[in-house]
Amino acid sequence: MMKRDLTVTVAGVKFPNPVIAASGVYGFGEYYTDLYPLNLLGGISCKGLTLNKRNGNTPPRVAETPAGMLNSVGLQNPGVDTFINTNLPRLKKDGNVIIANIAGDTPEDYAEIAKRLSETDVDMLEVNISCPNVKKGGAAWGISTEGAALVTKTVRAVTKKPLMVKLTPNVTDVTEIAKAAESEGADAISLINTLLGMRIDIRTKRPVLHRNVGGLSGPAVFPVALRMVWQVAGAVKIDVVGMGGINSAEDAVEMMYAGAKAVQIGTAIISDPLAPLKIIGGIEHYMDVNRIRRITEITGKVEPW
Ligand SMILES: Cc1cc2nc3c(=O)[nH]c(=O)nc-3n(C[C@H](O)[C@H](O)[C@H](O)COP(=O)(O)O)c2cc1C
Repeated sequence: MMKRDLTVTVAGVKFPNPVIAASGVYGFGEYYTDLYPLNLLGGISCKGLTLNKRNGNTPPRVAETPAGMLNSVGLQNPGVDTFINTNLPRLKKDGNVIIANIAGDTPEDYAEIAKRLSETDVDMLEVNISCPNVKKGGAAWGISTEGAALVTKTVRAVTKKPLMVKLTPNVTDVTEIAKAAESEGADAISLINTLLGMRIDIRTKRPVLHRNVGGLSGPAVFPVALRMVWQVAGAVKIDVVGMGGINSAEDAVEMMYAGAKAVQIGTAIISDPLAPLKIIGGIEHYMDVNRIRRITEITGKVEPW
């Protein structure tokens, strides 16, 4: 049988395979260690870290929707220092590539978190710019080229760690935001974060989420995510990591044809904790059937009409 090569390099970091657990659905891996060795995954993007511990938003903060879910968890996390002292050592022992996902209300917050993580052996930083810009009334940093550029530049100035900037889909032209991050020193782009959505319970007349609105994820968002990954991959020179609704190996392969070097799996893990492993197995099967030796051969190889 032909020997397959599933390794991919993103932002100069080598992953044993292109399947990464997405931030926010995998915690710090602690709930999965009894199910399988974490090093079967290509990498793990940890729950979003803030400077200080956060308890997150008031429930209800998750709701099922057709082919997806809404969440407004609100970045519940133990704070960056607890992560560094407690979670990271275990993760580095158990897993492959460990990505710290970071979030802040101000560029200075992001920079301080990045600075503390720079002293550790975390492999990569993923800068989530979907957080509220407290200086500008709560809209996300990632919805303007200026905001995206400022956060990227401020973090870049304090760290040599590989930097992946994670984009929100809640914008008019995602390629402009991606280019702004690239121009300020991002080594890679990941997308998409959740799409802003809402549901109302017609018996109570209340929105199903306590925060009224929340982020939509899961299979429902896949075509939107694929379109955005394709657009961004065509607009930047740096590596792109695709996510949003990936639920099968076929979805992951599509995402790579669109231009992703690697993929992240989020909501699919909530309904099936073994989803990432099934996706890795399915990618191997696709490679065998189609006589693809290196998975990197398919990245960006869609043939548009
Ligand atoms: C419950 C939940 C929590 C999340 N928390 C974070 C987070 O802390 N940081 C982040 O960048 N993205 C977070 N996300 C977004 C996911 O990482 C991912 O970008 C999004 O859900 C789309 O992928 P999916 O459809 O495969 O879930 C969260 C998503 C969910 C469902």
